[in-house]
Amino acid sequence: MKKKLALATMAAILSFSLVACGTDAGTAQPDDAGTAPEETPAAPEETPTADGGASSDVANKDKPLVWFNRQPSNSSTGELDMAALTFNGNTYYVGFDANQGAELQGTMVKEYIEANIDQIDRNGDGVIGYVLAIGDIGHNDSIARTRGVRKALGTAVDKDGNINSDPVGTNTDGSASAVQDGTMEINGKQYTVRELASQEMKNSAGATWDAATAGNAIGTWSSSFGDDIDIVVSNNDGMGMSMFNAWSKDNNVPTFGYDANNDAVAAIAEGYGGTISQHADVQAYLTLRVLRNALDGVDIDTGIGTADEAGNVLSSDVYVYNADQRSYYALNVAVTADNYQDFTDSTKVYEPVSAQLDESTHATKKVWLNIYNASDNFLSSTYQPLLQNYDDLLNLDIDYIGGDGQTESNITNRLGNPNQYDAFAINMVKTDNAASYTALLSQ
Ligand code: BGC
Repeated sequence: MKKKLALATMAAILSFSLVACGTDAGTAQPDDAGTAPEETPAAPEETPTADGGASSDVANKDKPLVWFNRQPSNSSTGELDMAALTFNGNTYYVGFDANQGAELQGTMVKEYIEANIDQIDRNGDGVIGYVLAIGDIGHNDSIARTRGVRKALGTAVDKDGNINSDPVGTNTDGSASAVQDGTMEINGKQYTVRELASQEMKNSAGATWDAATAGNAIGTWSSSFGDDIDIVVSNNDGMGMSMFNAWSKDNNVPTFGYDANNDAVAAIAEGYGGTISQHADVQAYLTLRVLRNALDGVDIDTGIGTADEAGNVLSSDVYVYNADQRSYYALNVAVTADNYQDFTDSTKVYEPVSAQLDESTHATKKVWLNIYNASDNFLSSTYQPLLQNYDDLLNLDIDYIGGDGQTESNITNRLGNPNQYDAFAINMVKTDNAASYTALLSQ
């Protein structure tokens, strides 16, 4: 902290002298050829204040804003909330490619069944039964994962031109209307695939993706369906690991999640079936990097598709940018028994973007950042530690606010004085609620 302050003071002096010289600093852009600018001086008017508060008199509504992990969108239809995504010229979303990841998850489960069929059908009835833990029926990542699994296993049915992602409750006899029985032919034998049960894991207080609820659900399901459960699938590792620890590990039932959290990756050695890395190391970097670039007044691609002066750059196999949606999406990778050794530390910064930015040209800026639920396994055990590694590298002084996962006001109440900050990073409780934040920034 002390070092940071000293450096901030130096930066302040430096940027003051730039102003005094009348240098046209702060407007440097990488050239069109995509080479990094020689120097990227900080905008002269944005001098850090001694008290560590916001360093400019930019109106809150014009400050850089990044939505992350929960994309502003209609929770019923999935339609993107373009007003929130284009709130100002420096607004972006950072997440990951939900459909590509969902397809990977479905394929991973299917291939596991095919490769291990001899041990899968536990009671030999020719029906491969699975149960599914759904995170949040109104979250587009959760919806995509439910669809991906149903599609790969042949249990999907259409609803309004899309795969139905509704929970079935229980479906012991295969009569539920939100799914159908699928078939798989393996080694010349025909199997039926049935979604025996699925439910949204929401606790009584309203928190979604709730691991404890999933742990209870597997207790209920296993006592109702017993040996009929051959596979456990979850929209994330938090819920997946809760079910694994409560039941499937002891019963040797392969369990699949999503996120590649450390505990889940380690559990692959103990029978956890697999997980998907959504490249949180790339997402956390992008979340902060777009703010850094906007604050520096440089091309948004700096240190992303175009190397910055420290050498930070991402290759196109780890992310895509969709300009119309103003959204960066990290790409996913399946993590299974074949490769899990490469994923044992989910909080490690991604090497190609691990170089420290020079504080004299990227002065420390103050950022407000919230996590929708301080108890969300992925965000608290993987994403936030990554953000905390990158904030130092990018000279961002971040106030981390942890929500209760239930009410937006629990978080927005703590954004009482946006003037104190140079930029904002927001992870909403509900994807419909972007306006609760932008209203505060517009005041
Ligand atoms: C993660 C989940 C997490 C959710 C929260 C998803 O992208 O995979 O683990 O609970 O985001 O928004």
